[in-house]
Amino acid sequence: MGLFANLFARSEPVLSDAASRDAAAIAGLHAASFRRGWSEQEVEGLLTDRHVIAHRAMLGSTMVAFILSRLVEDEAEILSVAVARARRGRGLARNLLDLHLRRLAGYGARAVFLEVDEHNTAAIRLYDRAGFREVARRPSYYPGAGGKAAAALVLRRDLV
Ligand SMILES: CC(C)(COP(=O)(O)OP(=O)(O)OC[C@H]1O[C@@H](n2cnc3c(N)ncnc32)[C@H](O)[C@@H]1OP(=O)(O)O)[C@@H](O)C(=O)NCCC(=O)NCCS
Repeated sequence: MGLFANLFARSEPVLSDAASRDAAAIAGLHAASFRRGWSEQEVEGLLTDRHVIAHRAMLGSTMVAFILSRLVEDEAEILSVAVARARRGRGLARNLLDLHLRRLAGYGARAVFLEVDEHNTAAIRLYDRAGFREVARRPSYYPGAGGKAAAALVLRRDLV
C-alpha cells in the first residue's frame, strides 16, 4: 500500500451534521446496506424536512456512515443508520449514534424509538449497548429470504 493510501486507511472518520448536498452519498450508502434502497430524491426530501436530524461520518471526501432521525415534539424515531461495509466493526456506528443521541437530546427529544429486524445481530447489539430496550414486537414485518418473514423489534431509549 502506498504512503497516502496507508495514511488514509489509518485516519479516523470525522463526524458532522449532514445536509441536502449529502443526498447522493447517503442514497448510495443506503442502497449498499439495505434490500430496499432510497432514491436520491427521497433522501433529499428527508434532508430538507425540518423535523429530520442527520449526521454523517466522512473519511476525506468519502462518506462512510450516516444516521437519520425524525423528531416531532419530544419523540424521535431513528429512520436509518448505515456504515460502509469496509469500515464496519470499528466502533463507528457507536460513535455516530452517541453524537446523534446527544444532539437529539439537545433539540428536546425525551424518547427515541426505532425498528430493527430481529435477525440483525450487529444493529441489535449496537442499540442494546446504547441503552435501547425492546418495547414491542411486530411479527412477520420484514420479508425474509426464502419466503420466511422476520419480526421487527421496536426499541426505545429514554433520554432524560
Ligand atoms: C449495524 C451497523 C450500523 C453497525 O455499524 P458498525 O460501525 O459496524 O458498529 P460498531 O463497530 O459501532 O459496533 C457496535 C456494536 O455492535 C457489535 N457488532 C458490530 N458488528 C457486529 C456483527 N457483525 N455481529 C455481532 N455484533 C456486531 C460490535 O461488537 C459493537 O458491540 P460492542 O460495543 O459490544 O463491541 C452496520 O453493521 C451496518 O451498516 N449494517 C447495515 C445497515 C443496518 O443494518 N443498519 C441498522 C438498521 S436498524
